[in-house]
Amino acid sequence: MSYLQNIFVCSILFSLLISCDVKKDNTPQMNLTLKKEDFGRIGGETVHLYTMENGQGVKVAITNYGGIITQLHVPDKDGNIEDIVLGFDSLQEYLSDHPYFGAIVGRYGNRIANGAFSISGKNFTLPINNGPNSLHGGVNGFDKKVWQAQEILTRTEKGVELSYLSKDGEEGYPGNVHVTVRYTLNSENELGISYFAKTDSPTILNLTNHSYFNLRGAGNGDILGHQLKLYADQFTPVDSTLIPTGEYQNVLNGPFDFTTQKAIGKDIESENIQIQYGGGYDHNFVLSKNSGELKSFAKIFEPESGRLMEVFTTEPGVQFYTGNFLDGSIIGKKNKPYKKQFGFCLETQHFPDSPNHSHFPSTTLLPDEKYHSETVYKFSTL
Ligand code: GLA
Repeated sequence: MSYLQNIFVCSILFSLLISCDVKKDNTPQMNLTLKKEDFGRIGGETVHLYTMENGQGVKVAITNYGGIITQLHVPDKDGNIEDIVLGFDSLQEYLSDHPYFGAIVGRYGNRIANGAFSISGKNFTLPINNGPNSLHGGVNGFDKKVWQAQEILTRTEKGVELSYLSKDGEEGYPGNVHVTVRYTLNSENELGISYFAKTDSPTILNLTNHSYFNLRGAGNGDILGHQLKLYADQFTPVDSTLIPTGEYQNVLNGPFDFTTQKAIGKDIESENIQIQYGGGYDHNFVLSKNSGELKSFAKIFEPESGRLMEVFTTEPGVQFYTGNFLDGSIIGKKNKPYKKQFGFCLETQHFPDSPNHSHFPSTTLLPDEKYHSETVYKFSTL
């Protein structure tokens, strides 16, 4: 080949290379961004806010205080964007008393009867903070910790990896437990949460995220008109303090039957004793008794906005809670009060009080085991 021919072939190859690169640049993944800002200070420590955007209208903000999802902006069917999670504008407000808005809950999501459990004959007691029971990891749970944070910057995902060492005896739980929670956003409008943990002595662990969703937008009315499809044939009925009785109850045709899509509000005023105990829905639905596979388990559609949320999990259960304890006394973002049933939670988890029900999927974590759990929230419109 002559020198000129050589140059010609090289320049063709070069432009091919460039055009491949240009193609790559046009893929939606390249519009994923991550921004880190100061969110305030706790003691001497600066707390940050990590904001991920995906170029498709979805934006999520997460702080390393409590691993709280503070904002989740999602477009409606006409492209109007709303923040669909309840919460506050400032760190200061998150430091005051609130019902776990958006937070990572641990060591044990949900209730343990009388704050008592045992592992191999050894008894442990936990702080009582909910009637006679221990709720959501005690007085100073994972929702109130400052987590170490590291940015996740891959081509297909942006996010934040949070880690926390819960020392042996913290809130009454045994074992030094090292927990990592990875939050990621991708260009498929999926917000993923992966949980990992290791312990150095036998313990119990049940991690979840406590986001309250309102697909009309946070503070924009109640969630009773949302249409829910929940693929669960059974739920675990509770006593008057919301501790499972240990039974599995079939949902078929009753107020707990969401196996065919139904408005959340349709049976929420039912005389059914379980609904009465919860003041609405505040129950664990059985998704599987052994799985571990990431499976779609719920679709929630909001007819006015056309927003649709689909949820996937590897967990065997989900606490479906309809914000029954909200009473308008908390003023949230944009100065809007959060009234009764203005948000719903789908807390993917193992069943409440599992350490005291040996036939429930086990929440025991041993030193030679790895804790791993995943949940994905996917957004679209209809
Ligand atoms: C969980 C519980 C509810 C309530 C909320 C927080 O969802 O099941 O009963 O305690 O947390 O207010």
